[in-house]
Amino acid sequence: LDNGLALTPPMGWLSWVRYRCVTDCKTYPKDCISEKLYMEMADHLVSDGYRDAGYVYVNIDDCWSALERDKDGTLQADPERFPSGIKFLADYMHKRGLKLGIYGDMGTKTCGGYPGSKFFMESDAMSFAEWGVDSFKMDGCFSTATEFPISYPIMGQWLNRTGRPILYSCSWPVYMSHLHPSANYTQIAEVCNIWRNSRDIEDSWAIVQDIMSFFGKNAVNLSAIAHPGAFNDPDQIIVGNYGLSYDQERVQMAIWAILAGPLLMSNDLRNIREESRELLLNKNIIAINQDPLGIPGTQLLAGDMQVWMRPISPKGSFALAFLNFLINGGGPKQVETKLTELGLTGAGSYNITEGFTGKFIGLFKPSSTLTVRVNPSGVFLVVARPV
Ligand code: GLA
Repeated sequence: LDNGLALTPPMGWLSWVRYRCVTDCKTYPKDCISEKLYMEMADHLVSDGYRDAGYVYVNIDDCWSALERDKDGTLQADPERFPSGIKFLADYMHKRGLKLGIYGDMGTKTCGGYPGSKFFMESDAMSFAEWGVDSFKMDGCFSTATEFPISYPIMGQWLNRTGRPILYSCSWPVYMSHLHPSANYTQIAEVCNIWRNSRDIEDSWAIVQDIMSFFGKNAVNLSAIAHPGAFNDPDQIIVGNYGLSYDQERVQMAIWAILAGPLLMSNDLRNIREESRELLLNKNIIAINQDPLGIPGTQLLAGDMQVWMRPISPKGSFALAFLNFLINGGGPKQVETKLTELGLTGAGSYNITEGFTGKFIGLFKPSSTLTVRVNPSGVFLVVARPV
């Protein structure tokens, strides 16, 4: 969507995977969906270095609103859990150099059963703009397939007419992925800044692998569709939670960087392992993710030993991820590849560095062989730049 936003994949925090629809603040005062939760996360984004690394969106997900609209049909936040209101929360973010995102649904209800925007799109867009909201994720529950290509563009128009720049996150293709004809990605990229292609992520390695394989083998060329202002969304970053080992966390960061996926963390920033925090703040990974060319990468080789590749700037450079998904492979596995086999066929040689540390590995001619060792359910990431 050409609205000047998401020129690189958006970065920030989103409540869904970790905090779901916890509304019982008496029993779960630290974890319930409430203004306090978003304010505390915002404070940590600022104090722990995330904001300065680029993580600026604080995104509310489902279950924030009251169960009913007010008597004029206006959406309202749950008065017990958001006593100060959404405008207050947006101001809170803006004062700290952050942005506020909110969640809604194209249908009659959100997936969690809260009021949807069907029949209220104009008024909801106006509420978001009046409140000072910077991003809107519109889900697709409680609607029918034929509505998607019509209702998503209509909401996009209403958001645009508010005059406030609002990043538009669409769940449109994920609801249509099983339908025929399936999602029209050319239209989606014109209407949305980011869009969810694949199933919901969960705090689980199996689901991360499932999403990666969706992006790896999808028949639609997802890489060709995205560009600055319009990115595929493989869903939230779960680094720092329960489900992934450290090596698996590195895989998620590396592949989301290759895919140019939004970096929307869903974790507890108040209580996170230092190694996970460092990974989330890794400047080299963020630089690949945020590469200004905005060209997502693709899977070159599928299977137990995978290779993924993303073109990055300056022109002719690449980020390459070697993944080891062997179940019975023992320890780290050695991989040897000729650069030409990876498509590195430039005239001169390549300066190759390790992707996480930036450490120099060597100068390689296209005819030479690159040897790396990849941990089980781990990644070896390199950056190759022509010299
Ligand atoms: C859907 C979305 C999730 C989340 C939930 C909220 O499942 O895909 O990301 O927003 O709804 O109910």
